[in-house]
Amino acid sequence: GRSPGPDRRGAAMTAPLRLTDYRARGYRRLPSSVRDFVEGGAGEERTLGANLRAFGRVVLRPRVLVDVSAPDTATELLGAPLATPVGVAPTAYHRLLHPEGELATARGAGRAGALYVVSLFASRTLEEVAAAATGPCWLQLYWLRRREVLADLAGRAAAAGYRALVLTVDAPYLGRRHRDARNGFAIPPDVRAVNLDPALMAAAHRPAPGRSALAVHTAEAVDPSVTWSDLAWLRARSPLPLVLKGVLTGEDARRAVEHGADAVVVSNHGGRQLDRAPAALDALPEVVDAVGGACPVLFDGGVRSGADAFAALALGARAVLLGRPVLWGLAADGADGVAGVLGVATEELAHTMALTGRPSLSVLDRSAVSLAAPR
Ligand code: FNR
Repeated sequence: GRSPGPDRRGAAMTAPLRLTDYRARGYRRLPSSVRDFVEGGAGEERTLGANLRAFGRVVLRPRVLVDVSAPDTATELLGAPLATPVGVAPTAYHRLLHPEGELATARGAGRAGALYVVSLFASRTLEEVAAAATGPCWLQLYWLRRREVLADLAGRAAAAGYRALVLTVDAPYLGRRHRDARNGFAIPPDVRAVNLDPALMAAAHRPAPGRSALAVHTAEAVDPSVTWSDLAWLRARSPLPLVLKGVLTGEDARRAVEHGADAVVVSNHGGRQLDRAPAALDALPEVVDAVGGACPVLFDGGVRSGADAFAALALGARAVLLGRPVLWGLAADGADGVAGVLGVATEELAHTMALTGRPSLSVLDRSAVSLAAPR
Protein backbone atom coordinates (compact mmCIF):
# COMPACT_ATOMS: atom_id res chain seq x y z
CA GLY A 1 0.00 0.00 0.00
CA ARG A 2 0.96 3.64 -0.30
CA SER A 3 2.52 5.28 2.70
CA PRO A 4 0.29 7.95 4.22
CA GLY A 5 0.87 11.47 2.96
CA PRO A 6 2.31 14.13 5.25
CA ASP A 7 -1.13 15.37 6.33
CA ARG A 8 -2.39 11.98 7.38
CA ARG A 9 0.85 11.09 9.06
CA GLY A 10 0.71 14.38 10.96
CA ALA A 11 -2.82 13.63 12.13
CA ALA A 12 -1.81 10.15 13.25
CA MET A 13 1.14 11.53 15.15
CA THR A 14 -0.87 14.09 17.04
CA ALA A 15 -3.97 11.97 17.85
CA PRO A 16 -4.06 11.83 21.65
CA LEU A 17 -3.09 8.33 22.76
CA ARG A 18 -2.10 9.11 26.34
CA LEU A 19 -3.28 11.62 28.92
CA THR A 20 -0.13 13.71 28.58
CA ASP A 21 -0.89 14.14 24.86
CA TYR A 22 -3.70 16.46 25.93
CA ARG A 23 -1.37 18.77 27.85
CA ALA A 24 0.39 20.53 24.97
CA ARG A 25 -2.88 20.75 23.03
CA GLY A 26 -4.61 22.28 26.01
CA TYR A 27 -2.02 24.94 26.74
CA ARG A 28 -1.57 26.09 23.14
CA ARG A 29 -3.90 29.05 23.48
CA LEU A 30 -3.60 29.84 27.19
CA PRO A 31 -1.54 32.50 28.99
CA SER A 32 1.53 31.16 30.76
CA SER A 33 0.19 32.43 34.11
CA VAL A 34 -2.82 30.09 33.78
CA ARG A 35 -0.52 27.23 32.88
CA ASP A 36 1.60 27.99 35.96
CA PHE A 37 -1.52 28.15 38.15
CA VAL A 38 -2.65 24.72 36.97
CA GLU A 39 0.71 22.95 36.78
CA GLY A 40 2.38 24.47 39.82
CA GLY A 41 2.78 23.25 43.38
CA ALA A 42 3.73 24.64 46.76
CA GLY A 43 7.20 25.43 48.05
CA GLU A 44 10.00 23.65 46.23
CA GLU A 45 7.40 21.47 44.49
CA ARG A 46 8.88 18.39 46.17
CA THR A 47 5.51 16.81 46.85
CA LEU A 48 4.33 17.66 43.34
CA GLY A 49 7.28 15.70 41.93
CA ALA A 50 6.96 12.91 44.51
CA ASN A 51 3.34 12.24 43.51
CA LEU A 52 4.48 11.39 39.99
CA ARG A 53 7.64 9.52 40.97
CA ALA A 54 5.78 7.25 43.41
CA PHE A 55 4.01 5.57 40.49
CA GLY A 56 7.39 4.83 38.93
CA ARG A 57 8.11 2.41 41.78
CA VAL A 58 5.01 0.29 41.14
CA VAL A 59 5.64 -3.07 39.52
CA LEU A 60 2.65 -5.09 38.35
CA ARG A 61 2.39 -8.82 39.12
CA PRO A 62 0.46 -10.43 36.26
CA ARG A 63 -1.49 -13.68 36.61
CA VAL A 64 -2.06 -15.73 33.48
CA LEU A 65 -4.65 -18.13 32.08
CA VAL A 66 -7.51 -16.12 33.51
CA ASP A 67 -10.55 -15.40 31.31
CA VAL A 68 -9.97 -11.75 30.46
CA SER A 69 -12.31 -11.60 27.47
CA ALA A 70 -14.45 -8.90 29.12
CA PRO A 71 -12.54 -6.72 31.61
CA ASP A 72 -15.11 -4.72 33.58
CA THR A 73 -14.31 -1.33 35.13
CA ALA A 74 -17.79 -0.83 36.65
CA THR A 75 -18.03 0.09 40.31
CA GLU A 76 -20.29 1.73 42.88
CA LEU A 77 -19.77 4.70 45.19
CA LEU A 78 -22.13 5.83 47.97
CA GLY A 79 -24.95 3.97 46.27
CA ALA A 80 -24.35 5.29 42.74
CA PRO A 81 -23.27 2.93 39.93
CA LEU A 82 -20.31 4.16 37.85
CA ALA A 83 -19.00 2.82 34.53
CA THR A 84 -15.47 3.70 35.62
CA PRO A 85 -13.63 4.22 38.92
CA VAL A 86 -11.74 7.13 37.31
CA GLY A 87 -13.45 10.42 38.17
CA VAL A 88 -12.95 14.18 38.15
CA ALA A 89 -11.22 15.84 41.12
CA PRO A 90 -12.56 19.24 42.25
CA THR A 91 -10.62 22.03 40.56
CA ALA A 92 -11.47 25.72 40.61
CA TYR A 93 -12.48 28.11 37.79
CA HIS A 94 -12.92 25.92 34.70
CA ARG A 95 -13.74 29.00 32.61
CA LEU A 96 -10.01 29.83 32.82
CA LEU A 97 -9.57 26.86 30.48
CA HIS A 98 -12.68 26.80 28.30
CA PRO A 99 -15.57 29.25 27.76
CA GLU A 100 -18.18 26.63 28.72
CA GLY A 101 -16.32 25.91 31.93
CA GLU A 102 -17.88 23.37 34.28
CA LEU A 103 -20.78 22.68 31.91
CA ALA A 104 -18.34 21.08 29.47
CA THR A 105 -16.70 19.16 32.31
CA ALA A 106 -20.08 17.84 33.47
CA ARG A 107 -21.02 16.71 29.96
CA GLY A 108 -17.65 15.04 29.42
CA ALA A 109 -17.78 13.24 32.77
CA GLY A 110 -21.33 12.10 32.06
CA ARG A 111 -20.33 10.71 28.69
CA ALA A 112 -17.57 8.69 30.34
CA GLY A 113 -19.84 7.39 33.11
CA ALA A 114 -17.56 9.07 35.65
CA LEU A 115 -18.06 10.81 38.99
CA TYR A 116 -17.61 14.61 38.90
CA VAL A 117 -16.63 16.43 42.10
CA VAL A 118 -17.54 20.09 41.50
CA SER A 119 -15.35 22.74 43.17
CA LEU A 120 -16.73 25.38 45.51
CA PHE A 121 -14.95 27.81 43.18
CA ALA A 122 -16.77 26.62 40.06
CA SER A 123 -17.30 29.35 37.46
CA ARG A 124 -20.81 28.07 36.62
CA THR A 125 -23.67 27.78 39.10
CA LEU A 126 -23.97 24.45 40.81
CA GLU A 127 -27.55 24.23 39.57
CA GLU A 128 -26.49 24.69 35.88
CA VAL A 129 -23.72 22.12 36.33
CA ALA A 130 -26.13 19.58 37.83
CA ALA A 131 -28.53 20.18 34.93
CA ALA A 132 -25.74 19.52 32.38
CA ALA A 133 -24.59 16.37 34.19
CA THR A 134 -25.81 12.89 33.32
CA GLY A 135 -23.85 11.11 36.04
CA PRO A 136 -23.36 11.58 39.78
CA CYS A 137 -21.97 14.91 41.04
CA TRP A 138 -20.58 15.71 44.47
CA LEU A 139 -20.00 19.27 45.73
CA GLN A 140 -16.66 20.20 47.29
CA LEU A 141 -16.55 22.82 50.05
CA TYR A 142 -13.96 24.72 52.00
CA TRP A 143 -14.88 25.76 55.53
CA LEU A 144 -15.74 29.44 55.05
CA ARG A 145 -15.58 31.91 57.89
CA ARG A 146 -19.13 32.85 56.99
CA ARG A 147 -20.94 29.75 58.16
CA GLU A 148 -24.31 30.89 56.89
CA VAL A 149 -22.87 30.77 53.35
CA LEU A 150 -21.65 27.23 53.96
CA ALA A 151 -25.06 26.20 55.30
CA ASP A 152 -26.77 27.74 52.27
CA LEU A 153 -24.47 25.88 49.84
CA ALA A 154 -25.08 22.59 51.65
CA GLY A 155 -28.82 23.09 51.24
CA ARG A 156 -28.53 24.15 47.58
CA ALA A 157 -26.41 21.09 46.78
CA ALA A 158 -29.01 18.68 48.12
CA ALA A 159 -31.82 20.49 46.31
CA ALA A 160 -29.91 20.47 43.00
CA GLY A 161 -29.31 16.71 43.15
CA TYR A 162 -25.70 16.50 44.33
CA ARG A 163 -25.10 13.18 46.06
CA ALA A 164 -22.40 14.10 48.57
CA LEU A 165 -20.53 17.00 50.14
CA VAL A 166 -16.74 16.84 50.03
CA LEU A 167 -15.05 18.95 52.68
CA THR A 168 -11.45 19.71 51.74
CA VAL A 169 -9.45 19.70 54.96
CA ASP A 170 -5.89 20.30 53.77
CA ALA A 171 -6.16 24.04 53.07
CA PRO A 172 -6.70 26.14 56.22
CA TYR A 173 -4.32 28.49 54.40
CA LEU A 174 -3.33 28.34 50.75
CA GLY A 175 0.02 26.65 50.02
CA ARG A 176 2.91 28.95 49.18
CA ARG A 177 2.78 28.71 45.41
CA HIS A 178 5.76 30.65 44.19
CA ARG A 179 4.84 30.55 40.51
CA ASP A 180 1.56 32.35 41.23
CA ALA A 181 3.26 34.86 43.55
CA ARG A 182 5.88 35.71 40.92
CA ASN A 183 3.18 36.08 38.27
CA GLY A 184 1.10 38.25 40.61
CA PHE A 185 -1.65 35.83 39.62
CA ALA A 186 -5.27 36.89 40.08
CA ILE A 187 -8.45 35.45 38.60
CA PRO A 188 -9.43 37.55 35.55
CA PRO A 189 -12.58 39.65 36.04
CA ASP A 190 -14.65 37.68 33.49
CA VAL A 191 -14.15 34.36 35.32
CA ARG A 192 -16.13 34.31 38.56
CA ALA A 193 -16.85 31.91 41.39
CA VAL A 194 -20.53 32.46 40.73
CA ASN A 195 -21.77 30.32 43.60
CA LEU A 196 -20.43 32.84 46.09
CA ASP A 197 -21.29 36.44 46.83
CA PRO A 198 -19.07 38.80 44.73
CA ALA A 199 -18.09 40.70 47.88
CA LEU A 200 -16.71 37.46 49.34
CA MET A 201 -14.66 36.87 46.17
CA ALA A 202 -13.26 40.37 45.51
CA ALA A 203 -9.74 39.63 46.78
CA ALA A 204 -9.30 36.72 44.32
CA HIS A 205 -9.56 39.21 41.44
CA ARG A 206 -7.27 41.92 42.84
CA PRO A 207 -3.77 41.58 41.34
CA ALA A 208 -0.89 42.42 43.66
CA PRO A 209 2.76 42.37 42.52
CA GLY A 210 4.71 39.51 44.07
CA ARG A 211 1.63 37.95 45.68
CA SER A 212 -0.96 35.38 44.75
CA ALA A 213 -4.43 36.95 44.94
CA LEU A 214 -5.75 33.48 45.74
CA ALA A 215 -3.56 33.23 48.82
CA VAL A 216 -4.85 36.62 50.00
CA HIS A 217 -8.42 35.59 49.26
CA THR A 218 -8.11 32.25 51.06
CA ALA A 219 -6.73 33.93 54.17
CA GLU A 220 -9.72 36.25 54.12
CA ALA A 221 -12.47 33.71 53.33
CA VAL A 222 -11.45 30.36 54.82
CA ASP A 223 -11.73 29.65 58.55
CA PRO A 224 -8.45 28.09 59.76
CA SER A 225 -9.81 27.43 63.27
CA VAL A 226 -12.16 24.61 62.29
CA THR A 227 -11.64 21.24 64.05
CA TRP A 228 -13.13 17.74 64.15
CA SER A 229 -15.81 18.85 66.59
CA ASP A 230 -17.22 21.31 64.01
CA LEU A 231 -18.08 18.55 61.52
CA ALA A 232 -21.34 17.77 63.31
CA TRP A 233 -22.52 21.33 62.58
CA LEU A 234 -22.09 20.80 58.82
CA ARG A 235 -23.65 17.34 58.94
CA ALA A 236 -26.73 18.77 60.62
CA ARG A 237 -27.20 21.18 57.71
CA SER A 238 -27.50 18.62 54.96
CA PRO A 239 -28.92 15.14 54.43
CA LEU A 240 -26.00 14.36 52.08
CA PRO A 241 -23.12 12.02 52.91
CA LEU A 242 -19.98 13.85 54.05
CA VAL A 243 -16.60 13.04 52.47
CA LEU A 244 -13.29 14.37 53.85
CA LYS A 245 -10.65 15.20 51.24
CA GLY A 246 -7.00 15.59 52.16
CA VAL A 247 -6.35 12.78 54.65
CA LEU A 248 -2.74 11.53 54.60
CA THR A 249 -2.21 9.62 57.85
CA GLY A 250 -3.66 6.57 59.57
CA GLU A 251 -4.32 8.69 62.67
CA ASP A 252 -6.57 11.10 60.80
CA ALA A 253 -8.20 8.28 58.85
CA ARG A 254 -9.25 6.68 62.16
CA ARG A 255 -10.58 10.02 63.41
CA ALA A 256 -12.52 10.49 60.19
CA VAL A 257 -14.19 7.12 60.71
CA GLU A 258 -14.89 7.93 64.38
CA HIS A 259 -16.56 11.16 63.26
CA GLY A 260 -18.75 9.29 60.81
CA ALA A 261 -17.13 10.29 57.50
CA ASP A 262 -18.91 8.53 54.66
CA ALA A 263 -15.69 8.39 52.62
CA VAL A 264 -12.19 9.85 52.72
CA VAL A 265 -10.00 11.06 49.87
CA VAL A 266 -6.27 10.41 50.22
CA SER A 267 -4.82 13.55 48.68
CA ASN A 268 -2.11 16.15 49.13
CA HIS A 269 -4.01 18.54 46.85
CA GLY A 270 -1.77 17.68 43.92
CA GLY A 271 1.30 19.00 45.78
CA ARG A 272 -0.26 22.47 46.05
CA GLN A 273 -0.58 22.71 49.84
CA LEU A 274 2.02 21.29 52.26
CA ASP A 275 5.30 20.81 50.45
CA ARG A 276 7.13 17.71 51.80
CA ALA A 277 3.82 16.02 52.50
CA PRO A 278 4.13 12.39 51.44
CA ALA A 279 3.46 11.31 47.89
CA ALA A 280 -0.24 10.52 47.82
CA LEU A 281 0.41 6.94 46.68
CA ASP A 282 2.77 6.34 49.62
CA ALA A 283 0.09 7.48 52.09
CA LEU A 284 -2.62 5.30 50.57
CA PRO A 285 -1.89 1.89 52.19
CA GLU A 286 -1.65 3.45 55.67
CA VAL A 287 -5.05 5.13 55.26
CA VAL A 288 -6.68 2.03 53.77
CA ASP A 289 -5.42 -0.08 56.69
CA ALA A 290 -6.62 2.45 59.28
CA VAL A 291 -10.08 2.75 57.72
CA GLY A 292 -10.31 -1.03 57.65
CA GLY A 293 -13.27 -1.12 55.28
CA ALA A 294 -15.43 1.20 57.43
CA CYS A 295 -15.94 3.52 54.44
CA PRO A 296 -14.65 3.86 50.88
CA VAL A 297 -11.21 5.42 50.35
CA LEU A 298 -10.72 7.54 47.25
CA PHE A 299 -7.39 8.69 45.90
CA ASP A 300 -5.93 11.58 43.92
CA GLY A 301 -2.49 12.93 43.09
CA GLY A 302 -0.25 12.18 40.15
CA VAL A 303 -2.47 9.75 38.24
CA ARG A 304 -1.40 10.14 34.62
CA SER A 305 -2.51 6.83 33.08
CA GLY A 306 -4.89 3.95 33.53
CA ALA A 307 -1.96 1.90 34.80
CA ASP A 308 -1.46 4.50 37.55
CA ALA A 309 -5.16 4.24 38.37
CA PHE A 310 -4.77 0.44 38.49
CA ALA A 311 -1.94 0.78 41.03
CA ALA A 312 -4.00 3.00 43.35
CA LEU A 313 -7.03 0.71 43.05
CA ALA A 314 -4.84 -2.32 43.81
CA LEU A 315 -3.55 -0.55 46.94
CA GLY A 316 -7.12 -0.19 48.18
CA ALA A 317 -8.67 2.91 46.59
CA ARG A 318 -12.30 2.50 45.52
CA ALA A 319 -11.99 5.31 42.99
CA VAL A 320 -9.28 7.55 41.61
CA LEU A 321 -9.71 11.22 40.71
CA LEU A 322 -7.87 13.20 38.03
CA GLY A 323 -7.05 16.87 38.65
CA ARG A 324 -4.75 18.40 36.03
CA PRO A 325 -5.36 15.84 33.23
CA VAL A 326 -9.07 16.72 33.15
CA LEU A 327 -8.10 20.40 32.84
CA TRP A 328 -5.79 19.55 29.91
CA GLY A 329 -8.68 17.80 28.17
CA LEU A 330 -11.07 20.64 28.94
CA ALA A 331 -8.66 23.25 27.54
CA ALA A 332 -7.89 21.13 24.48
CA ASP A 333 -11.42 20.32 23.44
CA GLY A 334 -14.16 21.11 25.97
CA ALA A 335 -16.55 18.26 26.78
CA ASP A 336 -14.96 16.05 24.11
CA GLY A 337 -11.53 16.56 25.67
CA VAL A 338 -12.80 15.74 29.16
CA ALA A 339 -14.56 12.62 27.85
CA GLY A 340 -11.38 11.80 25.91
CA VAL A 341 -9.13 12.01 28.97
CA LEU A 342 -11.48 9.92 31.10
CA GLY A 343 -11.98 7.48 28.22
CA VAL A 344 -8.25 6.98 27.60
CA ALA A 345 -7.64 6.45 31.33
CA THR A 346 -10.49 3.93 31.52
CA GLU A 347 -9.35 2.05 28.39
CA GLU A 348 -5.81 1.85 29.75
CA LEU A 349 -7.19 0.62 33.07
CA ALA A 350 -9.27 -2.09 31.37
CA HIS A 351 -6.24 -3.12 29.31
CA THR A 352 -4.06 -3.31 32.43
CA MET A 353 -6.77 -5.36 34.19
CA ALA A 354 -6.78 -7.79 31.25
CA LEU A 355 -3.00 -8.19 31.02
CA THR A 356 -2.65 -8.65 34.79
CA GLY A 357 -5.43 -11.26 34.89
CA ARG A 358 -7.73 -9.12 37.07
CA PRO A 359 -10.85 -8.80 34.90
CA SER A 360 -12.99 -7.04 37.51
CA LEU A 361 -12.29 -4.48 40.24
CA SER A 362 -13.69 -6.89 42.86
CA VAL A 363 -10.73 -9.26 42.31
CA LEU A 364 -8.14 -6.47 42.40
CA ASP A 365 -6.06 -6.38 45.58
CA ARG A 366 -2.50 -5.74 46.76
CA SER A 367 -1.28 -9.02 45.25
CA ALA A 368 -1.42 -7.23 41.88
CA VAL A 369 1.45 -4.87 42.73
CA SER A 370 4.84 -4.80 44.36
CA LEU A 371 6.75 -1.65 45.21
CA ALA A 372 10.35 -1.32 44.11
CA ALA A 373 12.67 0.53 46.50
CA PRO A 374 12.85 4.30 45.93
CA ARG A 375 15.74 5.26 43.70
C1 FNR B 1 -7.03 21.85 42.53
N1 FNR B 1 -7.45 21.12 43.64
C2 FNR B 1 -8.56 21.55 44.34
N2 FNR B 1 -9.03 20.82 45.39
C3 FNR B 1 -10.16 21.18 46.04
O1 FNR B 1 -10.57 20.49 46.97
N3 FNR B 1 -10.84 22.32 45.66
C4 FNR B 1 -10.43 23.10 44.64
O2 FNR B 1 -11.08 24.10 44.31
C5 FNR B 1 -9.24 22.73 43.96
N4 FNR B 1 -8.77 23.51 42.93
C6 FNR B 1 -7.70 23.06 42.19
C7 FNR B 1 -7.29 23.80 41.07
C8 FNR B 1 -6.27 23.33 40.27
C9 FNR B 1 -5.86 24.13 39.06
C10 FNR B 1 -5.62 22.10 40.58
C11 FNR B 1 -4.52 21.54 39.71
C12 FNR B 1 -6.00 21.40 41.70
C13 FNR B 1 -6.80 19.83 43.99
C14 FNR B 1 -7.43 18.68 43.22
O3 FNR B 1 -8.72 18.40 43.71
C15 FNR B 1 -6.63 17.37 43.36
O4 FNR B 1 -6.40 17.08 44.72
C16 FNR B 1 -5.29 17.37 42.61
O5 FNR B 1 -5.34 18.14 41.45
C17 FNR B 1 -4.92 15.93 42.26
O6 FNR B 1 -3.67 15.86 41.69
P1 FNR B 1 -3.39 15.78 40.10
O7 FNR B 1 -4.35 14.77 39.50
O8 FNR B 1 -3.58 17.16 39.58
O9 FNR B 1 -1.96 15.32 40.08
